[in-house]
Amino acid sequence: MTSTTERLIEMEHRLGAHNYKPLDVVLSRGEGVHVWDVDGNRYLDCLSAYSAVNQGHCHPKILAAMVEQAQKLTLTSRAFRNDQLAHFYEEIAALTGSHKVLPMNSGAEAVETAIKAVRKWGYEVKGVERDKAEIIVCNDNFHGRTMGIVGFSTDPDAREGFGPFAPGFRHVPFGDIDAFRAAINENTVAFLVEPIQGEAGVLIPPAGYFASVRELCTSHGITLILDEIQTGLGRTGRLLAEEHEGIEADVTLVGKALSGGFYPVSAVLSNSEVLGVLKPGQHGSTFGGNPLACAIARAALRVLTEEDMIANSARMGERFQKGLGEIRSNIVKEVRGRGLMLAVELDPAAGGARKYCEALKERGILAKDTHGHTIRIAPPLVITADQVDWALEHFEAVLRD
Ligand SMILES: Cc1ncc(COP(=O)(O)O)c(C=O)c1O
Repeated sequence: MTSTTERLIEMEHRLGAHNYKPLDVVLSRGEGVHVWDVDGNRYLDCLSAYSAVNQGHCHPKILAAMVEQAQKLTLTSRAFRNDQLAHFYEEIAALTGSHKVLPMNSGAEAVETAIKAVRKWGYEVKGVERDKAEIIVCNDNFHGRTMGIVGFSTDPDAREGFGPFAPGFRHVPFGDIDAFRAAINENTVAFLVEPIQGEAGVLIPPAGYFASVRELCTSHGITLILDEIQTGLGRTGRLLAEEHEGIEADVTLVGKALSGGFYPVSAVLSNSEVLGVLKPGQHGSTFGGNPLACAIARAALRVLTEEDMIANSARMGERFQKGLGEIRSNIVKEVRGRGLMLAVELDPAAGGARKYCEALKERGILAKDTHGHTIRIAPPLVITADQVDWALEHFEAVLRD
């Protein structure tokens, strides 16, 4: 480690809250699938800022849109209108087949927004008794870090010591349709769920689960809210992960890659009924829907489709997953994923995934451990076959017997 790296890490440690435990690599530049540290070492980014940089680092077209808009107008607040918002609505609605859009900033804000809207919808449209609305959520969910959200997390690190929490959530195991059916009652307004549980370790539900969920939601008048903040916008090889299941959510949450990593932009996409309950003064955000965010998001969506990134995610994901599956190693328990949302689960006897991520870092690959024994792999969707093959060589060297 050089003195610059050491000095910056020491300053971070001394002055910052210790709410993260990053790998000790200090990055200063990014382009496409690569990032460089302050000493000029190059790495293949296999995390993509938790899938926010699907379009690759510093994509030149998104950058150009950002600079152009920043020179004209950045923020008006929603007290006034701006000339980007309507175009953003039109383009994202057309792309995703949505009727109404509510722009926010972080993913967690989009989740909170959906919770507010669906509760109000429950009282005003479904006729649930006041303050009795229930939302079904899954065990091991991850929807963000705000107070409302951590209150229904089942991860002790996320919630212990932060209570008291808001009531109105009921938990079921992910992928268990009988448990879901049993949890429904007359006060159920929504099911909030990730199509693939990302932070829990890239957990894919059994085939047919979401089709049955969709049927039950429709027959019981329950709003299906899919949190596609991580899975959406090409990550799984489709625009939205719901397409793998052949279903359509009533409310879809997107964030992260909605800006290609340039800026926090998220959105609640819905049918007219749910977002239709929000009236002036009932929800908002100073930065939500600002012209800079809208211009960036418009460019980020454009390059995703124009540059064939979604199909590339499907192709490269298949190649990467197949290659990982062929590594002969008795510490690898399972390789799973969809598109470029991949995970290698290690045998607990291997001593935790973190040390393998450290070893990968030494070889020029940045990947992140999750939940102790899982290495999560999510490179930008612009990765090429040569880059996948190069990465596989190093994964093999680190994981093989
Ligand atoms: C599925 C899911 N929902 C919500 C969030 C929260 O997004 P943000 O960190 O932008 O608040 C995340 C972040 O990792 C996520 O993966």
